[in-house]
Amino acid sequence: MAHGTGAQGAGRYPALAGNPRLATPQYAMTVVLNGLHGMPPFRGVLSDQQVADVVNYLVRDLNGHDATLTTEDVAAARLPLNTTDSYNPL
Ligand code: HEM
Repeated sequence: MAHGTGAQGAGRYPALAGNPRLATPQYAMTVVLNGLHGMPPFRGVLSDQQVADVVNYLVRDLNGHDATLTTEDVAAARLPLNTTDSYNPL
């Protein structure tokens, strides 16, 4: 995958398996939507379903925690970035 064989991490790409930041879906969802430092944002590339699927995979399958991120959760997280009258740091 994007972060090395078996998601163990490689160089500047952090491990996504056994990563304590991935105990809940919220953080990973934000990173995938908006990017983080050297990681590109996927907001314009992935659908709500694709974001939910990849985040649930990271949290549930790679890290062994409960994850039930829905397409509604992802849509709600996108909303502030789509408004023109609120502060947009990106
Ligand atoms: C769907 C594919 C991807 C997913 C699900 C994903 C997920 C993540 C997550 C959850 C983090 C945060 C890890 C942490 O803070 O411990 C992260 C960080 C990172 N990702 Fe990705 N990633 C993806 C694709 C990519 C791609 C394509 C690149 C490079 C072109 C990339 C480069 C990075 C880098 C460099 C970081 C570290 C950012 C920093 O803290 O400076 N990722 N990724």
